[in-house]
Amino acid sequence: MKTTLPPRGSGRRPLLALMVMISLSPLANAGATSSDFGRMFPYLPAFQPADSLLIELAASMRDPNLPANDNPDAVPSGFTYIGQFLDHDITLDTTLLGNATINVTSMTNGRTPRLDLDSMYGGALTGSPELYDTSGHFKFSSPHGFPDLQRISTGQALLPEGRNDENLLIAQIHILLQRFHNQFIDAGHPFAQAQQMTRWHYQWLIVHDFLPEIVGQETVDRFLTHNGNDKPAMHYQFYRPGNPNRPMMPVEFSAAAYRFGHSMVRLAYVMPSGSTVKTQVFNLSGNDLHGSRPIPSNLKMGFANFFDLEGIPAPPGRNISRKIDSLISGSLFNLPIGPVIPNEPINVTSLPERNLLRGKRLGLPAYQDVAWALGISPYTNTQLGLTDPAWGGKAPLWFGILKESELAENGARLGPTGRAIVAEVVLGLIDLDKTSYFSSPQPWAPDDGEFHISTLLRSVGDL
Ligand code: HEM
Repeated sequence: MKTTLPPRGSGRRPLLALMVMISLSPLANAGATSSDFGRMFPYLPAFQPADSLLIELAASMRDPNLPANDNPDAVPSGFTYIGQFLDHDITLDTTLLGNATINVTSMTNGRTPRLDLDSMYGGALTGSPELYDTSGHFKFSSPHGFPDLQRISTGQALLPEGRNDENLLIAQIHILLQRFHNQFIDAGHPFAQAQQMTRWHYQWLIVHDFLPEIVGQETVDRFLTHNGNDKPAMHYQFYRPGNPNRPMMPVEFSAAAYRFGHSMVRLAYVMPSGSTVKTQVFNLSGNDLHGSRPIPSNLKMGFANFFDLEGIPAPPGRNISRKIDSLISGSLFNLPIGPVIPNEPINVTSLPERNLLRGKRLGLPAYQDVAWALGISPYTNTQLGLTDPAWGGKAPLWFGILKESELAENGARLGPTGRAIVAEVVLGLIDLDKTSYFSSPQPWAPDDGEFHISTLLRSVGDL
């Protein structure tokens, strides 16, 4: 089935702690069907180094913020937040860090294991009527003359997935996808068709734009081929989803491999078009990009600063992702308690520390064991820079995947271990979803077979 993109400009409309934020979010999880977590390598032993080693390692990961740490392939920063948006569409573990346990099958995934934008649609017209007007458009507020999320008096957005208002970058990616849906309604499509077209174009972008940047086209091609009729065919290697109607989310993906994106986050970004002023993601003064508030006019995203757009020269304020390496931006070492992480008896505000401690609590296997299981010859601890014998020659999975990307790919994309896990799980989730474009009875492609982020931006009139 092919569907024409709505004509440009047709009827355009003017447009708190992980747990705390989610529980306070007025529409948290509306319409979501929960699913399960599980393991991709259940036969590998849990790697359990001392907490003190992990805490020391996390502290050593602070990025000195040098230009040399920009992605050498100049991957534009918009992909970082497309990546975070995708994370929030498929995986949500609300367990406090202090309560995380090795018994991962007792954990519930608060999101559907599908690239179905449940984070945006919630329960659709009947389950989340607050989100829509009578025609099926997403409703917006417009406090500063451009489309913003609907917000309650505290500034918090009315969202099925509160994390999409955690910073002003992901909030604006969310709004972009909502506006894309509205274009289909403006063009006369019924709600269900507008929803399906929005989902399918988004899935297409993930397969054709996002994954090739992050894992490389050859890795996409290893898992996904097309028959003569252009019908996608998935080749599974290690992901065993369990019940195919309720695929499990592997913790090796959610707690390690897919957290590669934390390394792509910059310290600061140039936000509006025509500017060169950088604003930090988070800082202690709050003069930053924290969310849960109306988007200030001076922090509206100029998309040419965040994506390569055909026919538009890169502006002076263009933001390049950080390398995917073993360094993490200083912004992520002091996460705001309340809007971003929960207030716990012991607050861990450093994201690298949270990732490493959670990985241990969830019983993740070591990087080297996972690499061997995938048939990849891993880097040794000496090569990874972990010289303390207390590591016992093994490295935490998240750290190993980041450092491998740095050593094997100069941080331009994921290394062999990370890309094998990320590509197989993301493509597998699209494949297992019987409503995705892979499952369309007639092979589906966007109208001219070409659809990129610039096509999407043009269609909503933001270029
Ligand atoms: C400013 C940007 C970001 C912030 C502030 C942020 C913050 C966080 C926090 C606080 C957690 C929970 C940590 C824990 O308690 O274990 C988390 C989890 C996670 N993050 Fe990020 N993150 C950001 C960007 C990204 C990006 C770009 C990606 C991937 C491309 C990503 C992937 C993930 C994944 C997969 C999880 C686990 C989700 C779950 O299963 O609940 N994040 N992030």
